[in-house]
Amino acid sequence: MSSNDAGEKPLNVLILAAGLGTRMKSDRAKVLHRLDGRPLIEHVFRTALSLNPKKVFIVVGHQADDVKSALAGTSSDRRIEFVLQKEQLGTGDAVNAAREQLAGNDSDVLVLSGDVPLIKVETLRELIAVHLLENAACTVLTVKLKDPFGYGRVIRGDGGFDRIVEQKDATDTEREVAEINSGIYCFDSRKLFAALSNVRTNNAQGEYYLTDVPRLLLDNDETVALFMHDRSVEVEGVNDRKQLASIEKMINDETIERLMKESGVTFIDPRNAYVSSTAAIGRDTVIYPNVTIEGDTILGSNCVIRSGTRLSNATIGDNVEIRDNCLIIDSEVGDACTVGPMAHLRGHAVMVEGAKVGNFVEMKKTRLGKNSKAAHLTYLGDATIGDETNIGAGVITCNYDGKNKHETHIGNDVKIGSDTMLVAPVNVGDGATTGAGSVVTKDVAAGELVVGVPAKTMKVLAKKD
Ligand code: UD1
Ligand code: MG
Repeated sequence: MSSNDAGEKPLNVLILAAGLGTRMKSDRAKVLHRLDGRPLIEHVFRTALSLNPKKVFIVVGHQADDVKSALAGTSSDRRIEFVLQKEQLGTGDAVNAAREQLAGNDSDVLVLSGDVPLIKVETLRELIAVHLLENAACTVLTVKLKDPFGYGRVIRGDGGFDRIVEQKDATDTEREVAEINSGIYCFDSRKLFAALSNVRTNNAQGEYYLTDVPRLLLDNDETVALFMHDRSVEVEGVNDRKQLASIEKMINDETIERLMKESGVTFIDPRNAYVSSTAAIGRDTVIYPNVTIEGDTILGSNCVIRSGTRLSNATIGDNVEIRDNCLIIDSEVGDACTVGPMAHLRGHAVMVEGAKVGNFVEMKKTRLGKNSKAAHLTYLGDATIGDETNIGAGVITCNYDGKNKHETHIGNDVKIGSDTMLVAPVNVGDGATTGAGSVVTKDVAAGELVVGVPAKTMKVLAKKD
């Protein structure tokens, strides 16, 4: 379905995302700044798509290529089209960049700002419904704010809408008006572009203001409707770092509250934990202060996560203990494992049920089998390790020869002695043992004991059943 809720005209969405965002004092375009782990533009884009519009046009300009690639993961959708605003001459000019695509189009255009990330799809649906009901040429989404500073004020006359006046152009009396323009509007496409041709730059900023369009429409005897929404948080804009931080905090507080209320998670200090809104955490898990949980991390029930730990896109089973200051990225930890303190798992490391990794152990692209242990000062990279195997202190898989990476395979019930260097590619069979300090350059057969530099076979141990 590509038409709007009433099934009449098709609906297109236009997202303004070409500005630099001067007030951010940044070298990076504003819409690329991250909120809840994702660029601002992605939040708005996802909301737009869930309206199921005919097309989503994104106006890009500043760092256009970076903005496009920020959406690369989400924008394979055919309905997305980027339009270029060559020079950033204001929000009116930004909309004008899509003139060719939209001006002759008998559709409704929902205009969204790339820097207003919290807007909910339900609110947009209500806005569209009002627009259709009023048969309006333009419907403006407004809210009342305690502190309206910086926003365009909505001035009402006797018969409803009169005009929008920007902060910098407003008189003292106008600045007292609490009702602000959210920067979100629904327009009749043809009427929008006709009026846009008459927008001038005679204002404090010398810009083409989109906010002049509703008044121009009114002057043409068109209907301009206002939809005042009561949840003002949804339309908070990100214009500076303070606003970014305050919205980030709001999302984080909501996430933690939801996890406490609905999922039964304990936070020792809810003000001092950072949890992505897309993470899932199981019942009776306890999160200590200063823990960061990023991305789509899934954390099971009855776990304990101690201070200073960061989990990013990690999958953690039930009854897991993660001690202080661990970093786990793109990796999996099975049920009843113990990790840390100060351990690092990355690059699709996997710990199978009951495995233990201790302090100063790094695991990359390595699978540590059931109940196996690497308790101290060890690097395990590009390796598979079987079940019930013990990796002694200071063991290293020497996986890199300066050009290529090589694999190490260690079987079940193996004892790798402290300070063993496993020079990959190398295999160590089930039940084998390496002596302390050995440098293993050749495969070790099942049940063998090897020692020395380079390691040589001492004896064949009795094989376990
Ligand atoms: C705008 C509105 C203001 C409203 C506020 C709500 C205008 C003139 N003012 O002000 O009434 O209260 O939003 O948040 O529209 N952009 C472009 N090209 C440009 C300029 C801006 O694409 O040439 C984009 C920006 O990247 C941003 C959006 O348009 O995503 C809004 O621009 P911004 O400069 O933040 O406008 P505000 O001052 O917030
Ligand atoms: Mg803004």
